Amino acid sequence: MIIAIDGPAASGKGTLGKRLARHYGYRHLDTGVIYRAVAKSLMDAGADLNDEMLAVSAALELDPEKFGNPALKTQAVGAAASVVSAIPQVRQVLLSFQRRFAEDPPGAVLDGRDIGTVICPNADVKIFVVADARVRARRRTLEAKARGEEADEAAVLEDILRRDERDQNRAIAPLKPAADAFLLDNSNLDIEGGVRAAIAIVEAVRASRGSS
Ligand code: DC
Repeated sequence: MIIAIDGPAASGKGTLGKRLARHYGYRHLDTGVIYRAVAKSLMDAGADLNDEMLAVSAALELDPEKFGNPALKTQAVGAAASVVSAIPQVRQVLLSFQRRFAEDPPGAVLDGRDIGTVICPNADVKIFVVADARVRARRRTLEAKARGEEADEAAVLEDILRRDERDQNRAIAPLKPAADAFLLDNSNLDIEGGVRAAIAIVEAVRASRGSS
């Protein structure tokens, strides 16, 4: 079984992905981390984020062992990831890695922007998570402060809105719900409420297919 979770920055899709994977005993891939890793390697090299050749070679040299690096979590790296992820060749290089991850047994949960539309269009369950931008900004600000980073909620909100705009309007694999995705509005749900809602969606799909 493949579960695809897409949604805008800070909508809570990563947490939902992790919890769903744990619930069903599947593997989990936060695909944002891949684009963040490419962006970080350009930033470390002092390179232009629009340098296609360098971005592609960074994508080809990705080391999944480093995906847990906490330095990938910052707002600055997220914003840079939004820029490099609009480069078509970068997305092309990263496509097969994501598909291979999705197809390995026993099942997988992938979260990102284009999982249900491009990476796994045949996913068994597709969930599109939305949340009010102000709620997302508040959550991101609290997370950043908990990591000891400086964070101003108004600036985080601006960054989130800029990122939404870029991710939704890029020419390749823009952020949008797949036609067969279930919408989950996470604005007024706490983590447990969101997890319950996501499990209910998965169970409804399984029941409709006659598998328990
Ligand atoms: O989910 P995130 O904040 O970690 O993602 C960082 C950026 O990476 C996001 O703004 C756009 C890009 N991204 C993407 O284009 N496709 C994905 N499947 C995941 C992330």
